[in-house]
Amino acid sequence: MSPVADELHPVFHSGRVAVITGAASGIGRAAALELARLQMRVALADVDELKLAETGKEVLAIAGEGNVLVIPTDVSKLDDVVRLKEKVYETWGEVGVLMNNAAIGPKGTSWEGLDNWRKTFDVNVFGVLNVQHTFVPPMIHQENQSVIINTGSKQGITNPPGNASYNASKAAVKSLTEGLAWELRERPATNLTAHLFIPGWTYTALGGASPDKEKPAGAWTPEETVLYMLDKVRNGDFYILCPDNETRREVDQLRIMWGAGDIAEGRPALSRWHPKYKSLFEEYVREGLASMQD
Ligand SMILES: NC(=O)c1ccc[n+]([C@@H]2O[C@H](COP(=O)([O-])OP(=O)(O)OC[C@H]3O[C@@H](n4cnc5c(N)ncnc54)[C@H](O)[C@@H]3O)[C@@H](O)[C@H]2O)c1
Repeated sequence: MSPVADELHPVFHSGRVAVITGAASGIGRAAALELARLQMRVALADVDELKLAETGKEVLAIAGEGNVLVIPTDVSKLDDVVRLKEKVYETWGEVGVLMNNAAIGPKGTSWEGLDNWRKTFDVNVFGVLNVQHTFVPPMIHQENQSVIINTGSKQGITNPPGNASYNASKAAVKSLTEGLAWELRERPATNLTAHLFIPGWTYTALGGASPDKEKPAGAWTPEETVLYMLDKVRNGDFYILCPDNETRREVDQLRIMWGAGDIAEGRPALSRWHPKYKSLFEEYVREGLASMQD
């Protein structure tokens, strides 16, 4: 795994600063709690002020006074994001971990729900861009190592039918994070790296959770997903493709390869969900898994 022992890692380290958007619930909340356990200082940003205040108290109980900032922020509004950055830099003077994690998923199909498309892109794409445009300029000048973790989705890679607007927004996050990684790599003096965090099915509000429902066996808890992600960022991975209890990594790999094969081999769009290709796809996965075991 990581060439550096976890407790010595320069980024996930006592006293370093983490900024997390979408920190009030789900994966963002689990990340805030875990980074506080690692004795990091944590700035929590979210548009849901009530939940944010509750999570802020939980994080404070772990991190202690002076180590937590709770900053109501709508990432789709550049002014809010600039205020977030100013508060964090005024208070702590640096950012070690920037988690660009806030997102929404209202339905927008290809010719319906245009308002939802706009809302989704405002938060999931322009929210990520607002944060990058505001935080990268100071972060690239920091001498110590720092990371930006953008939360994408498998839906932005394999594009399963059902919510075209969410899928397209997450495809944009994949693309812009790859671009960011390259731009940072081209500046050898910079100690900042970008990472694309691709959660598996995680039991959160966005992942179908509700107070009256038990976690389905197939989903991971937000804590499991966050621990997996941290391990891979420590290891320096760019693509952090998380499994869950239903889909193991090898199956994800084959689904991704099949999707790319649609283009390379001239199959119909989204052939994985095309009745004529269903059995071919299943055979491809069966044979692929068997050859991986050899
Ligand atoms: N849960 C899954 O199965 C899953 C799978 C793949 C990717 N993801 C991604 O993980 C990330 C976290 O989602 P989650 O599953 O924890 O869902 P969640 O709904 O529990 O958390 C999302 C948080 O983002 C906040 N938010 C929404 N709009 C915002 C805005 N404009 N400004 C600031 N905060 C805003 C919400 O208030 C909420 O607290 C998202 O990027 C999501 O797309 C989740």
